Amino acid sequence: RQPVDSPLYPLLAAASDYYRQALKSHPARKAAVEYLKGRGLSGVIARDFGLGFAPPGWDNLLKHLGGDALQQKAMIDAGLLIENADNGKRYDRFRDRVMFPIRDSRGRVIAFGGRVLGDDKPKYLNSPETPVFHKGQELYGLFEARQSNRNLDEIMVVEGYMDVIALAQQGLRNAVATLGTATSEEHLKRLFRLVPSVLFCFDGDSAGRKAAWRALEATLPSLQDGRRARFLFLPEGEDPDSLVRAEGTDAFRARINQQAQPLADYFFQQLSEEADPRSLEGKAHLATLAAPLIEKIPGTNLRTLMRQRLAELTGLTGEALQTMAAPVTDAN
Ligand code: CTP
Ligand code: MN
Ligand code: MN
Ligand code: MN
Ligand code: MN
Repeated sequence: RQPVDSPLYPLLAAASDYYRQALKSHPARKAAVEYLKGRGLSGVIARDFGLGFAPPGWDNLLKHLGGDALQQKAMIDAGLLIENADNGKRYDRFRDRVMFPIRDSRGRVIAFGGRVLGDDKPKYLNSPETPVFHKGQELYGLFEARQSNRNLDEIMVVEGYMDVIALAQQGLRNAVATLGTATSEEHLKRLFRLVPSVLFCFDGDSAGRKAAWRALEATLPSLQDGRRARFLFLPEGEDPDSLVRAEGTDAFRARINQQAQPLADYFFQQLSEEADPRSLEGKAHLATLAAPLIEKIPGTNLRTLMRQRLAELTGLTGEALQTMAAPVTDAN
């Protein structure tokens, strides 16, 4: 997935050290420290996640890491510096932001996210794609979650950096984030190699609900019997960070236990909203939508049970449903 060795790794590590040190001792650090405190984070969590601070100014990191033209070229490749196309001037990508290092599964820093301290745009700035960072494949917080517990039985998938960190702050140390990209089949394959159960918990807004359905679609090819996925939908306007801070760990855990929906339930509920199974036309449409998706499930038992459920909902026979759907091609 990633190069075993690359000159970019030590550079990214040095940058991460610099940002962490700046959060501790830079003269301008106060606003960043206050910001993180205001979001309920302790020093311990800041340390566990390697949080840092990119001070205001155009060349803090550039000056700190210094180096010759070759070194600066590598800093550009690593996404740390930007080169002005017109005059060739190089400057720090991340300025006046709280810094979130993104680590790979071995704990190496491969990229950063940086958040503004206020309401400026863009709210988050992320490293670009680089030889060591492929955004669509990474899961923020996976290294940290595994550090805290080698025998996780469930991983929670959330949208954002602060969701992962706020949950960890509240003792829920099993969350990872997809960083503003859609959950991919690749993500799910990785997760199910580590745990038998995945819990999706996206923001309580229309983007979050769309993300949940995309996550369901990405999960289907990984659903062998013995694995499960479930979905927790949050109240409108809440995200895991805001909710766990508002209601506390115990209430949030209780919410998971009581409200998390098994994938199959969410599947039929969502599709029944799109195609109303009370009419024959609705039943026909429902079958068209559901059957091909069900056939993507490699778990024979779950696939059979979901076909049966679809047969009950529509009145079509299991055989009819099976023949109308594309055959399973990817049985992993
Ligand atoms: N994101 C991004 N760039 C943006 C906005 C969002 O990369 N301009 C990504 C970030 O990884 C962010 C995630 O998408 O954490 C979810 O976005 P959003 O819900 O808008 O942000 P929050 O994580 O809730 O941010 P915060 O709580 O810090 O305001
Ligand atoms: Mn590569
Ligand atoms: Mn959101
Ligand atoms: Mn948030
Ligand atoms: Mn959010």
